[in-house]
Amino acid sequence: MSQPNGGTFDIVILGAGSGGYAAALRAAELNLSVALIDKAELGGTCLHRGCIPTKALLHAAEIADQTRESEQFGVKADLVGIDMAGVNAYKDGVVARLYKGLQGLLKQEKITLVQGAGKLVAKDTVEVDGQRYTGRNVILATGSYSRTIPGLEIDGKRVIASEHALKLDRVPSSAIVLGGGVIGVEFASVWKSFGADVTIIEALPRLVAAEDEEISKTVERAFRKRKINFKVGKPFEKVEHTENGVRATIAGGETVEAEVLLVAVGRGPTTANLGYEEQGVTLDRGFVITNERLHTGVGNIYAVGDIVPGLQLAHRGFQQGIFVAEEIAGLKPAPIDEAGIPRVTYSDPEVASVGLTETKAKEQYGADKVSTYNYNLGGNGKSQILKTAGFVKLVRLNDGPVLGVHMVGARMGELVGEAQLIYNWEAFPEEVAQLVHAHPTQNEALGEAFLALSGKPLHAHS
Ligand code: NAI
Repeated sequence: MSQPNGGTFDIVILGAGSGGYAAALRAAELNLSVALIDKAELGGTCLHRGCIPTKALLHAAEIADQTRESEQFGVKADLVGIDMAGVNAYKDGVVARLYKGLQGLLKQEKITLVQGAGKLVAKDTVEVDGQRYTGRNVILATGSYSRTIPGLEIDGKRVIASEHALKLDRVPSSAIVLGGGVIGVEFASVWKSFGADVTIIEALPRLVAAEDEEISKTVERAFRKRKINFKVGKPFEKVEHTENGVRATIAGGETVEAEVLLVAVGRGPTTANLGYEEQGVTLDRGFVITNERLHTGVGNIYAVGDIVPGLQLAHRGFQQGIFVAEEIAGLKPAPIDEAGIPRVTYSDPEVASVGLTETKAKEQYGADKVSTYNYNLGGNGKSQILKTAGFVKLVRLNDGPVLGVHMVGARMGELVGEAQLIYNWEAFPEEVAQLVHAHPTQNEALGEAFLALSGKPLHAHS
């Protein structure tokens, strides 16, 4: 690709990850001219170092588990081993196909792609290698990086971040996972399935602490059964190198040794040294502050994705990118409800949720105004066929709409599409209960939960 030499565009976008490229595609559909700038590959973290490769690893992990457990289904198979070169080739193949497709989309829409490190040098201009790209509007979409904690250096070998974990050419014999959030729980799940001995260290009192408390309990029970060790409620203190790996110390003095330590303590916004503050953009602990229309309050500068405080999820970035493109085109889109963004943790078991947790709903509306119902997957035929355990939990406003849906169990991520429609359309449980769910599917568990919450349970034990 020949590099463009600057120019003037309707929109200049800095960062070609989920938020940036979605804004570019929607803007191009709306006949706006776009320059999309990135120093790395089009597609950003999610496609190259995040969601997609991780989910490929998790799928390989599921196949390993199913092979190991095939006897339960009357199928004789032996798991001979994990060939990481083969797993990585499969994973990289998925990324490569999607990357090629994305490049094709950008080309089709005649978006000017600029390869290089950009800096905001004026309220309407991004400079790349001495070339100036001026936009009637500018969108900041520079994403996030793997954070660490003071004194803990990520060396990429023994103390690693998720981007290194995705590239390992072997299954570690043992691993410490620092942080029991989304990344921590997903990697713990993969490595255990691949045969590693795993210990999670989490400072908060429970794993996946952002989720409903009952969900955390079920994940912890499942992890205990899978022999994934976890130590919650005490922060990590330090790590030392040993002859063959690392030794981590937890507050109180307990130590854990392993071959590698994965740091998964959150992701920080990539906003330093990019000229944002110099141009008057407000940063708070590195995050770009915007109004609900994602405007920074400076010139015609907007921000989308992980640099904007809130859920750091690719699909939030896509939606924010689409929103800003439409805003610039004058379509006056409705602001995005952060609670309506679905959340999935793709571990085994999977966790999927949308809306408010029971605790948050009670805080917001008062304990006596909120009811909940838990539907156990034990009553769901398809879940029994899959031999999975878990539940669907509904939170509702009494005589009002659904406030939250929380699910745990195999393949629950696939149910979150319906759950988010129910939440975002402010459906009443009685309305959902009238709709027919195919039998036998796991979606039926959602249907059954709504039947029960409407006072007419079918396959539900009280
Ligand atoms: P996270 O915020 O989900 O979890 C970090 C965890 O580390 C927290 O539970 C925190 O209490 C713990 N922690 C922090 N300092 C600690 C210490 N000193 N000792 C012990 N524990 C400590 O962040 P994570 O998992 O790194 O993920 C980063 C972002 O990437 C998240 O916002 C997540 O939404 C996103 N992501 C989303 C995925 C998905 O949607 N499936 C997959 C992977 C990441």
